[in-house]
Amino acid sequence: MNGHRQLTIGLFGFGVVGEGLYKVLEQTPSLHATIKKVCIKNPGKKRNAPAALFTTNKSELLDDPEINVIVEVINESEPAFEIVSTALKNGKAVVSASKKMIAEHLTEILDLQKKYDQPFLCESAACASIPVIRNLEEYYDNDLLHSIRAIVNGSTNYILTKMFEDKIDFKQALIQAQQLGFAEADPSLDIEGWDALNKWTFLLTHAYGIVGKPEDIVFNGIQNIKLSDAAVAHEKNYEIKLVAQAKKLNNGKVAAFVLPQFVTHDDPLAFVKNEFNGVVIESSFADKQFFYGKGAGSFPTASAVLSDISALRYGYRYEYKKLYYHTPPVLTNDFFVRVYLSFDDWKRIPREKFEWIEEWHAGERKYLTGVIHFNHLKNDSWWKENNVSLILTPDTIIEDIEIRKLKKKSLELAGIMD
Ligand code: HSE
Repeated sequence: MNGHRQLTIGLFGFGVVGEGLYKVLEQTPSLHATIKKVCIKNPGKKRNAPAALFTTNKSELLDDPEINVIVEVINESEPAFEIVSTALKNGKAVVSASKKMIAEHLTEILDLQKKYDQPFLCESAACASIPVIRNLEEYYDNDLLHSIRAIVNGSTNYILTKMFEDKIDFKQALIQAQQLGFAEADPSLDIEGWDALNKWTFLLTHAYGIVGKPEDIVFNGIQNIKLSDAAVAHEKNYEIKLVAQAKKLNNGKVAAFVLPQFVTHDDPLAFVKNEFNGVVIESSFADKQFFYGKGAGSFPTASAVLSDISALRYGYRYEYKKLYYHTPPVLTNDFFVRVYLSFDDWKRIPREKFEWIEEWHAGERKYLTGVIHFNHLKNDSWWKENNVSLILTPDTIIEDIEIRKLKKKSLELAGIMD
């Protein structure tokens, strides 16, 4: 695509993001981008745009030679993939916000981009207004990137903030997130961690060149977190956040997961409230960087779509340098984590699986902190069931080489060894 060429857009979807984009484009004539047609599912719904703009026939967009960009912001994953594949095959550039579709079809989307030599941009699919994908693509070399920790789901962060700071109950906070347009059509995707998992799956590709599947990554949402957990967090001077993280271990492999975590008050992620998202990147020479911005909602998401559209005018595309020009690291579950667990019944906790237990509190709602091999989380589900709540501690990852030393020390402390 030539620089400064007029962009004629075919837009799929006119929900929170689609309508936001329409309004934002109307206010940005300098972009030389116009929406020619909008394909929608339900023609009966009242829309805030001229009726002539809409169609229910997708080929009016996909087969129109004048349309050179397809912007796809629909909810359903499989129809979204169908649209993206056809658009790329038909020689059109694509901008997509469908995180679930991208995570589930990552390999195919990479192949389609190569085969049809067309750009596929998806900045809005992760962290909305924060340009995290372009940053990971362009700025950091794989070898230099030590770790990324991020809050990538606005709804769960909004709910946690409302519950623990404004003392609003879970259901009420969720209703607010839905009314504000942050939540997914099926909010269990947010609450149970699926949305964050999907985003993390393809962010790992841009960060490290890892092309994985969502099912490769251990995850949970915030559905099991109790007010009593918040009380413990408060006592220890922590906050609870749903954190997606990836860390390069000493053996060069990458540990990656999406789980609730206690964060200290000096952690930049503690500063991220409501629907905001945040990303903390640690690299060899830059040290620590923090990106912060709105991660959900109509205009913040539309702003990222707009930025992709603008980038297309200059022929921008992802090069996937870490995937194609380097040997990407592999994911590993061979490390240990320090966790906090709260539960009703001690019998539900397989204590033999712990390397050691550091803290133990009885009472109606019991809790412990201890160290466990990550494989026990990958292969079992007891920690997600039976009213058990698992929260990672701040410096959660313990590598193999450290474990013996720490084990000896903890046994000494327990008075078992001299
Ligand atoms: N439901 C998503 C969130 C929307 O809450 O983050 C933005 O991807």
